Amino acid sequence: MMETKPEMTSSALVELLELFESTAIPVCLDGGWGVDALLQTQTRPHKDVDIILSVADVPKLQELLTMRGFAVREGKPPNSFVLANGAGLEVDVHAVTFDDDGNGIYRMQKGEDWIYPAEGFSGRGLVGGMSVRCLSPTTQVLCHAHGYVPVEKDFRDMELLKECFGVTLPSRLQRKDGGASMDEVAKYNVERWKALARANAVFTRPRFDLDKDSAWEYLDPQRRLGEVVGKDVLCLAAGGGQQSVAFALLGANVTVVDISEAQLRRDAEAAAHYNVNLNLLQGDMRDLSHLSEKSFDIVWHPYSLNFVPDARVVFREVARVLRVGGIYHFTCANPFFIGLGRKDWSGDGYVLRLPYVDGAEITYQDESWIYGEENPDEPIRKCKEYRHTLNTLVNGLIEGVSNPLCN
Ligand SMILES: C[S@@+](CC[C@H](N)C(=O)[O-])C[C@H]1O[C@@H](n2cnc3c(N)ncnc32)[C@H](O)[C@@H]1O
Repeated sequence: MMETKPEMTSSALVELLELFESTAIPVCLDGGWGVDALLQTQTRPHKDVDIILSVADVPKLQELLTMRGFAVREGKPPNSFVLANGAGLEVDVHAVTFDDDGNGIYRMQKGEDWIYPAEGFSGRGLVGGMSVRCLSPTTQVLCHAHGYVPVEKDFRDMELLKECFGVTLPSRLQRKDGGASMDEVAKYNVERWKALARANAVFTRPRFDLDKDSAWEYLDPQRRLGEVVGKDVLCLAAGGGQQSVAFALLGANVTVVDISEAQLRRDAEAAAHYNVNLNLLQGDMRDLSHLSEKSFDIVWHPYSLNFVPDARVVFREVARVLRVGGIYHFTCANPFFIGLGRKDWSGDGYVLRLPYVDGAEITYQDESWIYGEENPDEPIRKCKEYRHTLNTLVNGLIEGVSNPLCN
């Protein structure tokens, strides 16, 4: 059976907001719908709606929505929790206690307080023609600049607010170059992984079936990593919601760097499922300059090195961010067999026809098993990879660790 993909359409949202209004529960829109309310137009699909309301109104809200088939899906009332119904509607509740000055104090899931300034509640917007209360543009910027790492949709939301309201964006909410400097290799992968995620290819399916034991079995059945509780783990080019949440379930502090927003969204879905925190960063494995030197105990790099032509660039970056004594675990194509698939079986063996040249581009059609039962609805560009010779892999790793920054 297909799982219902959550989506909060404008008509569903208007229905909910009318319900809150009719029962005298004042709510203020936060998050993506909050931005679109300010913009008075829906600029992108929304998985859910984020609402801010008074803690005092939470019992009434819960009663009202329980009668309509909603139940707590995540988090814990009264402060921070998600209510969902079976039909794909999700309401992310941020309940605050107002102080004498009208600031809203929000106790987050980890027990820390976030203060919504009183001014923030002055926003007014439109959803589906309905006049609504929403966070002000400046408070939206403030919220986006703290607590989590912006991904593509956040950059876009913030740019739109800047365009419409002239708000100033802090540097962390500004793209480095608007994506303009992305080279062809990066662009190809962004497009391809977007399409693969749409087609639900195996590498884009989050793991929702893990517990601590199976997380160990999945990542490291031989327990070579040792204890990972409290360790800083970089899951490199590892989007998709698999390894990241496995490490998080084992108690590690996890950062994911991946070039694909679609893949990072899968990580966000998996993190929400397990109620764990992930630091999600959209970026290229060849440029980790946004990460500090020696900031990770483990760099976990699933199959992806072959998506870039020069492995040594990545090794140097990994060596820079890895702490002394840290572990770099990576998977890559066999230098000799890369690109060979079932179709290449001659009856006696696999014939090596392609030149054994470092950085050589190798394209091939995806094997059908990566889509499982479901064939993609749209044509997906071929897999484009690059050969890394054994010499490059071995010497590249040695050069990486010989870099003075790694000592
Ligand atoms: C085969 S998936 C590996 C991770 C996935 N969790 C898995 O287990 O299958 C390859 C990942 O590499 C990412 N990727 C491709 N090129 C990249 C690049 N230049 N920098 C960062 N990530 C990249 C893709 O977006 C994709 O998420």
